[in-house]
Amino acid sequence: MELTSQQINQIRESVDIVDIIGSYLPLVAKGTNFFGVCPFHDDHSPSMSVSRQKQIYRCFSCGAGGNVFSFVMGYENMNFLDAVKFLADKAGIPIQIDSKPLKQKKTSPYYEIYDLALKFYRNNINTAVGKDAKTYLDKRQIGPEIIKEFEIGLSLKNTEMLTKLLLKKNYEPNILKKSGLVNENEKGMHDSYYNRIMFPLWDLEGNVVGFSGRIYQGEDTAKYINTKETEIFKKGELLYNYHRAKREARKTGTVVVMEGFMDVIRAYTIGISNVIATMGTAVTKQQALCIKRMAKEIILCFDGDEAGAKATMACSNELLQMGIVPKIVRLEENLDPDEYILKYGKEQFERKLENPISIMDFKLNYLKQKKDFTNNNDVADYVKLVLKELEKTNDVVLKELTIHKLSEETHLDEAFLKEQLHEQTPKEVVQVVSKPVAKKTKYDVAEKYLIYYMLESPEVIQLYQNHNTYLPTKLYRELAIEIVQYYKSNHSIHVADFMTSIQDKPNMLTLLNEILAIERDDNYTVDEIMDYINVLHEYGVKFQLKHLNELIQMEINPIKKAEIAQKIVEIRKAEMTR
Ligand code: GTP
Ligand code: MN
Repeated sequence: MELTSQQINQIRESVDIVDIIGSYLPLVAKGTNFFGVCPFHDDHSPSMSVSRQKQIYRCFSCGAGGNVFSFVMGYENMNFLDAVKFLADKAGIPIQIDSKPLKQKKTSPYYEIYDLALKFYRNNINTAVGKDAKTYLDKRQIGPEIIKEFEIGLSLKNTEMLTKLLLKKNYEPNILKKSGLVNENEKGMHDSYYNRIMFPLWDLEGNVVGFSGRIYQGEDTAKYINTKETEIFKKGELLYNYHRAKREARKTGTVVVMEGFMDVIRAYTIGISNVIATMGTAVTKQQALCIKRMAKEIILCFDGDEAGAKATMACSNELLQMGIVPKIVRLEENLDPDEYILKYGKEQFERKLENPISIMDFKLNYLKQKKDFTNNNDVADYVKLVLKELEKTNDVVLKELTIHKLSEETHLDEAFLKEQLHEQTPKEVVQVVSKPVAKKTKYDVAEKYLIYYMLESPEVIQLYQNHNTYLPTKLYRELAIEIVQYYKSNHSIHVADFMTSIQDKPNMLTLLNEILAIERDDNYTVDEIMDYINVLHEYGVKFQLKHLNELIQMEINPIKKAEIAQKIVEIRKAEMTR
């Protein structure tokens, strides 16, 4: 069933953007608007404003903005129709949307290629050639249900099969090579993956966008091989199992972050499903933002070895920059979560997760490692490092506790340590959010304000039309035309619904958000609107005259020259009588 725009608008109207955003983050009322910390960039101050009256939001720092659908799309990493469905559910409005047409909408050919490959790999593991792979997985206590759930498959020793299958579907050889599934050498094209257990990798929406293949016989080559990055697969953007884990994470308010996807799969076998993996690389800003949006409590449970401790440190710092204070679980005996669960069982691992240590305790332990406390240089080093870490937190209680602990450990006076901390801490700089504004001409201003009020009132749309107003800037002009068309077909205009109608035009949306940010007094006078229209008209005339004057100077044919001169006179005359 196709949803009509009326139905979509009705869904938007039946929820209140303040309630929806307020369910994700604390909002504070100030004047007629509400303010909160923007979830779309790393921030600590409340730079996002939400308008109940207009049913829109905007961040003054990063420029994110839109209606309730765009908020949910951004926050939940959903596409438009899923966000509509999500909100319809919340509002108790029954709707049916086929998700199939959505998938077809995805234009990249890679989606289909990976889906086909997925079917192929999954089928292989259940045939005779998959026997050894099955045995390997079985030995690792990965049974048939888990193989099914995580869509685990097998690439073959015969490296012609998948390539043939894909070529038969008429995919361009070039695309196939770029997909990372097909290679070419002197003998021609063949499958890239040779006899590996294949783990599909999903993007945040749950589409397969690549694979990781593990060796299971012999140990001579790389343990895992990932498919190459493509336009739909950016390793720094995805988190393994995100699409499955997000619901459970929201429900429990906790998300557990691990390094390896085998760890995630193992956690699943003991019923822990609010878990994701970074897949062994340093956490990027984008991933940290995603993690931040998953749940309030974030537990890092990385491998128990030295590398895992280092990764914990790096990931914590990335999260701290986003204003999130993660909790830490460290596993003994250098075990990774997979090994730990297999060795100590479900209950003991759950106990570990229930008793995470604070980030500061983790950092103290980490910084203490390899330090010799009988050596004053080491102690001094340690103190400086801890103080430096303390600067990064705003939590005064945590600071006090840590200073106390540090004093006990080093026998240095608490007052002295505090003094050092103050000396290291730079004076707080008040950040001014507003960006340097490019010099605006009165024409820019007129265009902006005119559009602002066109969205406020049909009367202004009428004025704009009646005076044949021509906006000099292309994107503004297109936006104005879009508004007029919207009004013509809907007979009313609500800015939040208008946003829905242009949600697939990102440039226009950005401009619209900029315009809405001017936050003018919503009351206008007709005189004021006419001022803008006249200014724009004046600009048009000036522009025309300038153009004609240039022409006349270049023209050598006297008859044509006279014609242009005549035109100039006419325009001037028309202006006098206006
Ligand atoms: P198992 O050895 O199968 O238990 O995997 P693991 O989860 O213990 O892997 P490990 O802790 O060594 O690495 C964590 C993550 O890093 C894995 O999930 C992979 O995504 C990635 N990784 C590990 N080894 C390789 C490799 O050789 N190549 C690539 N590209 N990634 C790897
Ligand atoms: Mn492992």
